[in-house]
Amino acid sequence: MATTSPTTDVKAAAVSPLEAKAITATATSTVAGSGIALSNGVVIPAIGLGCYLMTPVQCRLAVATALGLGYRHIDTAAVYRNEESVGLGVSDSKLDRRHVFITSKLNPKDHLGDEASCYAAALASLKRLGTEYFDLYLVHWPARSGIKTKPKTTEPPKSKYKPNPNRKTVSTPPATKAQAKIADSKFTPVATTAATAPEPSIASIHRDARRVAWAVCERLYREGKARAIGVSNYEICHLEEMLGPKSATAGFGSGSGSGGRRESGGYAQIPPHVNQIEVHPLLYGIQRPIIEYCQSRQIMIEAYPPLAMASTELLAHPTITGLAKQHGVTPAQVALRWALAHKHCVVLPKSVRPERMRENFQACIDATSSSPDSKSSPAAAATAAVKSWTLSSSDVAAIDAIATDPKISRRRMCWNPTNVPIK
Ligand SMILES: NC(=O)c1ccc[n+]([C@@H]2O[C@H](COP(=O)([O-])OP(=O)(O)OC[C@H]3O[C@@H](n4cnc5c(N)ncnc54)[C@H](OP(=O)(O)O)[C@@H]3O)[C@@H](O)[C@H]2O)c1
Repeated sequence: MATTSPTTDVKAAAVSPLEAKAITATATSTVAGSGIALSNGVVIPAIGLGCYLMTPVQCRLAVATALGLGYRHIDTAAVYRNEESVGLGVSDSKLDRRHVFITSKLNPKDHLGDEASCYAAALASLKRLGTEYFDLYLVHWPARSGIKTKPKTTEPPKSKYKPNPNRKTVSTPPATKAQAKIADSKFTPVATTAATAPEPSIASIHRDARRVAWAVCERLYREGKARAIGVSNYEICHLEEMLGPKSATAGFGSGSGSGGRRESGGYAQIPPHVNQIEVHPLLYGIQRPIIEYCQSRQIMIEAYPPLAMASTELLAHPTITGLAKQHGVTPAQVALRWALAHKHCVVLPKSVRPERMRENFQACIDATSSSPDSKSSPAAAATAAVKSWTLSSSDVAAIDAIATDPKISRRRMCWNPTNVPIK
């Protein structure tokens, strides 16, 4: 992989909103299609290729294929065990490193409450990726590894939503035993419900671990090893702990002269630029408060898994299929357009199939970019030919209402961070 340094300076965190705009303008020219400025001015391409549950072989090919189609953003994580393949796929694409936005995340198993482990884990990720810097580095999970967050005597938490034994998906099953293991672990809650308050000492262990992990992210940022930093699966309570209550700050990048730095309260010296959380229409009712909270604090939401892992409860929902038919697009495109254009979230659909990658990409580029750079990307040129379509406000309201459809048996596809308490 070509390892040219990033064009957008990490010192962007300390610039005024005006300067940030100038940085944005420069950075936009380095990404094909549309991008969205983070609070520090770094531009993130609106759609990223999700790499969860890709085998290393699939991943290398998928990354190179996606980049050939016009994607400029790849979302991986140490726990996906395919960072090396991401690096190789970027190399195969022959794109300059500066033109690909790469995200990785702190492996929950390395979230051990000490700076040395977290920092070493980040450096190991960089090595596997074959790059000198992350475009975005995230704390994957808001709890320390290996420490239960429930008292020993507590009953196992009961899921609010019972799994539907008849649930069908059109997804590809995990290709290896190792992947199946990761997939299983995704559904294993590691914490208790908020109702069963854990011992304070246990909560404080997790709180201290979150603080240490964030200090490491800030170090990576200051050292130029991450152009942007953020969190994943953080609830409002975790963000308030990090930033201080909303009323205690003037707001990041609000022109207060803080250049995006914290004013008071909380442990963060640098605010998170991103919170990657579960967002799709099946879960919208539950996630709406955190989406709105993050947006009010200029924290970009990245929506995973935007296709609800290809659940038929989403992709075959009559509202989604009806709108797809009405607009002459696919159900996946409706779901992606809803999240990106109407909920203002970066989307991270995963696919190993070129035709689906193209379909997903077109839904997003068309949604945000009025003038894609057709010279720099074949997909952007193809997109320019796609008939423009828009979800009306009543379409959006109908999709929002899916969250209250009593027929949905399963809304949360992934782990449940509401189970990680702060006190
Ligand atoms: N931070 C976190 O804790 C966290 C958790 C989960 C996920 N993520 C990130 O978010 C990404 C997306 O989540 P995800 O991979 O779990 O699920 P997803 O993107 O919602 O869905 C992926 C599934 O949809 C299928 N698919 C893709 N495009 C399609 C289309 N146009 N029509 C029909 N089916 C389609 C894929 O199959 P094919 O591959 O066969 O096309 C795959 O089975 C992950 O890959 C990962 O990067 C983050």
